[in-house]
Amino acid sequence: MFDRVAETYDSVGVPWFTPIARQLVDELAPAAGESALDIGCGRGAALWPLADAVGGEGRVTGIDLSTEMVRATGADLAATGLGHVTLKVMDASDPDLEPASFDVIASSLVLFFLPDPAAALRSWWQLLAPGGRLGISTFGPRDQLWTDIDKLFVPYLPQQLLDARTSGTAGPFSSDAGMAALLGAAGFDTTRTVGISQPVSFSDVGEWHAWARSHGERAMWDAVGDNAEGIRSRAAELLAAGRGPDGRTVLTQQVRLSLAVRPKQ
Ligand SMILES: C[S@@+](CC[C@H](N)C(=O)[O-])C[C@H]1O[C@@H](n2cnc3c(N)ncnc32)[C@H](O)[C@@H]1O
Repeated sequence: MFDRVAETYDSVGVPWFTPIARQLVDELAPAAGESALDIGCGRGAALWPLADAVGGEGRVTGIDLSTEMVRATGADLAATGLGHVTLKVMDASDPDLEPASFDVIASSLVLFFLPDPAAALRSWWQLLAPGGRLGISTFGPRDQLWTDIDKLFVPYLPQQLLDARTSGTAGPFSSDAGMAALLGAAGFDTTRTVGISQPVSFSDVGEWHAWARSHGERAMWDAVGDNAEGIRSRAAELLAAGRGPDGRTVLTQQVRLSLAVRPKQ
């Protein structure tokens, strides 16, 4: 699915993944000269701020399982001429990279896709140098309007798309304490949790529809088949009813940033 959305991913003119990843990287505060890894880099939402922060004296590696994401981001990278950034097609579950070779690892909106997040975190711990920092973003609740739009899909979705991990409604991904426990079990000290409220704004249903098909929710559109047109019509009514005085509709998503360190000893 991520291969299919790679070309349009985060590039339909609606800022979404980029501001979330930028805040994650800000919290990690990478320093000039550090070595950073972006796990599940997609189209580079965290990769580019990491590259800026560590500068030419530093080093950034981005990995993603989707060959199309890596190809499209590689084309962007070639256009930048940055020599300190490397991309690889690689599974985040157990990346085949040099142990203890990174000062900073960022992974924005990826961990909940992995079959065994706890095992993945243990392998990420190995990649960090002692004292190295890990920053993860995961989804929290959505506002009422967005929740109501999501409900339009539910009757047509297979069980695997109703995964509570992705939506953060149950299990470790549903609370600060759950994430801290998941990280702690993998050997990390959790230093902080930062809650952010990320708005996304639309002028009309067409803009929303293009955006909603340009990222992970594409899986929902692909699953609903012939019901897609009815869902779009009903969503248009909900979006119109939620319009603000400026004529735009804003949907808001809570996002949890979990910041952790590999202990020095
Ligand atoms: C929601 S996107 C986030 C991308 C990017 N971090 C961002 O913030 O825009 C999830 C990304 O995780 C990647 N992904 C999913 N499963 C993966 C796995 N097992 N190993 C590596 N990457 C994976 C997808 O290909 C996709 O690029």
